[in-house]
Amino acid sequence: MVDLRAQFATIEKEVRRAIDEVLATQTFVLGPQLEAFEREMAQYCGRRFAVGVASGTDALALSLRACGVKPGDEVILPAFTFLATAGAVIAAGARPVFAESDPKTLNIDPQSVRSLATPRTSCIIVVHLYGCAAEMEPLLELASRHGIVIIEDNAQSLGASLNGKKLGSFGACAATSFYPSKNLGAFGDAGMVFTDGEEIAERLARLRNHGQTGRYLGAEPGWNSRLDDIQAAVLRVKARYLDRWIAARRAHAARYNQRFAKVDGIRTPVDKPDSVHSYYLYTVQIAGQRGNPAARRDHVARHLASREIASSIFYPLPLHLQPAYASLGGKAGQLPVAERAAHEVLSLPLYPEMTNEQIDRVADSVIEVL
Ligand SMILES: Cc1ncc(COP(=O)(O)O)c(C=O)c1O
Repeated sequence: MVDLRAQFATIEKEVRRAIDEVLATQTFVLGPQLEAFEREMAQYCGRRFAVGVASGTDALALSLRACGVKPGDEVILPAFTFLATAGAVIAAGARPVFAESDPKTLNIDPQSVRSLATPRTSCIIVVHLYGCAAEMEPLLELASRHGIVIIEDNAQSLGASLNGKKLGSFGACAATSFYPSKNLGAFGDAGMVFTDGEEIAERLARLRNHGQTGRYLGAEPGWNSRLDDIQAAVLRVKARYLDRWIAARRAHAARYNQRFAKVDGIRTPVDKPDSVHSYYLYTVQIAGQRGNPAARRDHVARHLASREIASSIFYPLPLHLQPAYASLGGKAGQLPVAERAAHEVLSLPLYPEMTNEQIDRVADSVIEVL
C-alpha cells in the first residue's frame, strides 16, 4: 500500500543528521526538538498550541479528558472509522454512540448526529475519513447550540483543508497520528493534539506527563504519553516535505480518477470543491449484489493480489457491529450506509513516490477485472 523505503531514500541524509544531533545532546524526553516541532506544527495547522503525545489514540483520549468529558457522558462518533476513535471514548470512561455515514464521502452524517444527541451528549468526535473533510458547519452549529464539544480526529487528514482552513483547526481539540504510514509518519508511534485553548493546552501538557504541575507534584491523575525528541527530530525533517507529498498524492489520485472515469461499477473518492483532500487513502467503492454485497469488491481484491498488487479494506466491520462493543446493543441493519460501505470500500496503493507506470498498472488491473 505504501513504500516507506522509497520515501526514506529521498530524505535519508537529512534524517540521519537530525537524529545525530539528538544523540549528541542526549536529551530524549520533553527536549528542544519536541518544543520546536510543537511550535512549527501549531503554525502549520493555524492553531495557537500543539502538544506532542505518544500516539494518535492517546491524542484522542487526552483530548476528551482535557475537554472535560466525564465518565457516564455520551460521545457521538461515526460507526465507520478505526477502532481507536471508540477506544479513546472508553478510556475516558464515556459511552460511545455510533452515528451513520454520509453515502458520498462516508464521513459522519450530521443528520444522524442530530437524531442521536441527548442531554447526556458532551462531545462529538468528527473523523475526516481518508483525508476528506467532514461537513463541519452543521456539526459546529449543533454543538454550539447544545453546549457540546467537538473534537476532530485528524489522524488521516493532516494537511487537508476546508474553505481554506486546515482540518484540525475547527474543533476545541484536534487529535492527529504520526503512525509510520500516515501522510506525516514517525519512525514508530507518535501523535499530537492541536487547540487554541490555553487552559486545554496546559492540561494536555500536564496529563501527558503524569499530571504533574511541578517536579513530583501531581495535580491530577495522568500518565506517560510523551512524544520523544528523536521522533520529533525525524518528524521536523519530514514536515518540511508534507505539502509536496500531499500534492503528489493528489496528482496520483487525479490520475486514478481519470482512468476510472468511464468504468462502470466503481465509485471514485469525492473531492469536494470547497476542500482539499489529503488522500491519506485512495478508496473506491465497488457495489456488490443482493445477498452478497462484498462479492465484487472481494473479487477485485483477489485479482489484484494475484498480480502482486496490494489493496486494503478500511474498514471491514463498522464499530457498532464489533464484538468489542456488543454490550452497547448495536444490530445489523441499524446503520445501513456504514454497513454497506464496509462491504464496498477498497483502498488502492497510494504514496507520493509512486510512478505513473505503477498507478497505471494498478488501474489497468482493476479495470480488467471489472
Ligand atoms: C481515524 C484514526 N483515528 C485514530 C488513529 C489512532 O492513531 P495511532 O495509531 O497513532 O494511535 C488512527 C490511526 O491509526 C486513525 O486512522
